[in-house]
Amino acid sequence: MAENLFIDPNATKEEKYISLLVQIEALIDNENDITANLANIASALYFGMNFFWVGFYEVKNEQLVLAPFHGPIACTRIAYGKGVCGTAWKKQQTILVPDVEQFPGHIACSSASKSEIVVPIFVNNAVKYVLDVDSEKLNDFSNIDEKYLEQLVKIISKNIEIQYI
Ligand code: SME
Repeated sequence: MAENLFIDPNATKEEKYISLLVQIEALIDNENDITANLANIASALYFGMNFFWVGFYEVKNEQLVLAPFHGPIACTRIAYGKGVCGTAWKKQQTILVPDVEQFPGHIACSSASKSEIVVPIFVNNAVKYVLDVDSEKLNDFSNIDEKYLEQLVKIISKNIEIQYI
């Protein structure tokens, strides 16, 4: 397992994602503990991409419950269909929010968060987690983030599904 993350600070956002994804795959390869892997991925994304908050929520009994994350403390439970996270779960699709104040029902865990992207993580065709990334800047996410975060969650799904077989 690689023990250090290396991201060129002068690289473009896309180059950073490409490099990060390769390193994350190596990081979780041969490790089957889901909590350990999600914790390392949250840290890798947080430091690699300089986001304000990166974390996972797990689907547990019709609610999302806070799982490994990096950044300030956050809301622990989110109901189905509520907030950006609950909406991504319900719609089973990525939700990109350029300005959180314009998203009806947005749940503000921190007033510093200005834009957000939430990507559902499928395990055996059902949403099992969501990945939530927050930025202190307005309009900080684009189709680049969507593309690479969706690739990342496929890597995570594969890692988890292997353990369900
Ligand atoms: N803003 C999210 C809640 C989670 S925090 O941002 C960490 C939402 O509206 O679902």
